[in-house]
Amino acid sequence: MLSCRVCGTRNWERVLSLGYTPLANNYVRMNDLKKEEIYYPLTTVFCAQCGLVSLDVVIPAPVLYDFYYYLSSESKTILAHNEWLARYLTTRFGLGPADLVVEIGSNTGTQLRCFKTLGCRTLGVEPAENIATLANEHEVETLNRYFTTATAADIVTQHGRSRCIVARHVFAHIDDLGDVLRAVNRLLADDGVFVIEIPYLVDLVDRNEFDTIYHEHLSYFTIGTLQRLMERYDLRILDVEHVEVHGGTIIVLVERARGQEAERVRSMIEEESAKGANKLEYFRAFAARTEQIKLDLVSMILDLKRRGQRLAGYGAPAKGNTLLNYCGIDSAYLDYVRDNTPTKQGLYLPGTHLRIRSDEYARAHPPDCYLLLAWNYATEILEKEKEFIDAGGRFIVPIPAPVFVGG
Ligand code: TMP
Ligand code: ZN
Repeated sequence: MLSCRVCGTRNWERVLSLGYTPLANNYVRMNDLKKEEIYYPLTTVFCAQCGLVSLDVVIPAPVLYDFYYYLSSESKTILAHNEWLARYLTTRFGLGPADLVVEIGSNTGTQLRCFKTLGCRTLGVEPAENIATLANEHEVETLNRYFTTATAADIVTQHGRSRCIVARHVFAHIDDLGDVLRAVNRLLADDGVFVIEIPYLVDLVDRNEFDTIYHEHLSYFTIGTLQRLMERYDLRILDVEHVEVHGGTIIVLVERARGQEAERVRSMIEEESAKGANKLEYFRAFAARTEQIKLDLVSMILDLKRRGQRLAGYGAPAKGNTLLNYCGIDSAYLDYVRDNTPTKQGLYLPGTHLRIRSDEYARAHPPDCYLLLAWNYATEILEKEKEFIDAGGRFIVPIPAPVFVGG
């Protein structure tokens, strides 16, 4: 068993096992359907020493990220969030044309573009070659590299230090956090801010978002655990914003350690303790609720099938693959899943081999009920599918607990 990437001990307690699943972003091409897929254990463990929740296996980063299917979301919800974040950071930290904003795991550059529009210099760092190429084609300057101390040193030489380093939904994917935080220390200007946007472990547990667990997400953090990690690298949390995107996200503002810990951060950490979010029992209760969701969801779906209804999945997000594989929901139950990402259409889901269809196909072959796998966009999607619902169509929203909407 690994040692904890925050505190270095091996005081692990097993929390939740979701069985064996293939990698959630390994969509399958038609010609590869007969090839065997590799299944890896998907088990979370809790560090009794520092409160980190982690997977108990680490898939090597090049296997996951050298080629990557996931393109930055272009959904209305996320584009509005990208704009808000750029405006918030440029205003709060007075970022202007002289300042360099670096984004780690910048994907196609949708976030950096917002900083560019507001007049900052920007540089993306993106390990997936196919995606870095797309970003550069769209004129968001992007290095095709992993963010390491060597990368940081090169950026300092070529562009100078950065007043704002952004890491959106990437920090949980990193195994060697020590190297990344040393790299941040090297690249960050003395008055700079390091911004980590990450799913909030407390939301994940309280809202039963077990499907957010997949092999790319190695770590699940409370603010208390993050603070402890930052202290080891002479950094500290200055402030935290709590927002709704992706089912509950924290935006953690980190600066070089100086002076006292912010009062607001301390009170958030106290709230976590009061809830028991640093105790094993909190996670054991979550595991029990997860098992109940599986039973409830499967029985709702069986009931619909018995009555001859047709079902399809809505959205083919990575987390949908955790949910489908863990619950054993495959082509016996769903006819297809629809997704509006052109690069995913025509491919098949890992494990369940459900075919990914376009919106046009789905409109021509509507099911009676959609299982909303992309539940983090429920508001946006239910609004968009008003016509389907008005015509008697239904959705099952599986998280935080399976319910029917519409019909
Ligand atoms: P994400 O939560 O990782 O951004 O993934 C959401 C997936 O859902 C992504 O593959 C795009 C898909 N999607 C649709 O198919 N239709 C929609 O209206 C929205 C908002 C997302
Ligand atoms: Zn630990």
